[in-house]
Amino acid sequence: MSHPVHPVIAIDGTAASGKSTFSRRLSQKLGYAYVNTGAMYRGVTWYLQQRNVPLGEPEAVTRGLAGATLETRLENGELAFRISGVDPLPHVREGKVNDEVSLVARVAAVRKLLVAEQQRLAQLAPLVMEGRDIGTVVFPQTPYKFFLDADAVVRAQRRQNQGETDAILQRDVLDQQRENSPLTCASDALRLDSSLSTVDELIALALRHLASLGLKSQSHFS
Ligand code: DC
Repeated sequence: MSHPVHPVIAIDGTAASGKSTFSRRLSQKLGYAYVNTGAMYRGVTWYLQQRNVPLGEPEAVTRGLAGATLETRLENGELAFRISGVDPLPHVREGKVNDEVSLVARVAAVRKLLVAEQQRLAQLAPLVMEGRDIGTVVFPQTPYKFFLDADAVVRAQRRQNQGETDAILQRDVLDQQRENSPLTCASDALRLDSSLSTVDELIALALRHLASLGLKSQSHFS
């Protein structure tokens, strides 16, 4: 695997742990692009659902994906994504996608394709990238890693406030127990608990940690 040309901040963690708010805010503070890899797995899930692919069958998922073309790029410092010419991002928070995304994310062919895209994006610009395997599999060599978690009650409440139905604990179990790239905290990641601190406090902590590792903020997108 080629090393990224630019710095990558890897942010992994459990479902509804506040990764997206934290990651987006950190990317703004640093002037880096922001890439939510969960949206890519969700986009593929939505695409396959549109084609009535039985997502419980890994072979069917692999076959369904083989016929698709994937385009990813950075637009105004964020991920832009098309599958066979269609932008799935307006649909990726639907309850049906929440229900089945972990089935799709466990399939090796899906992960291989999306990880390659994620690694390519890091050749284009400095990135804050959030997901489940960014610090362990996609960019194990980056020194800049965080792992976010929060109390299960706080996480469930967060999803409810967002008006979403999402069986987050069930998704966590599937994500943690799958064979391919399971969700786990990299040994060199800084663990953060978002049920104990505000986003501002977490960002201040993260910036101090990054500075201690020698990372200086730069503005690429302001
Ligand atoms: O971050 P999220 O909740 O939007 O992610 C949706 C699902 O996608 C998550 O349950 C597991 C999968 N995912 C993954 O397997 N690897 C990633 N890097 C990001 C997400």
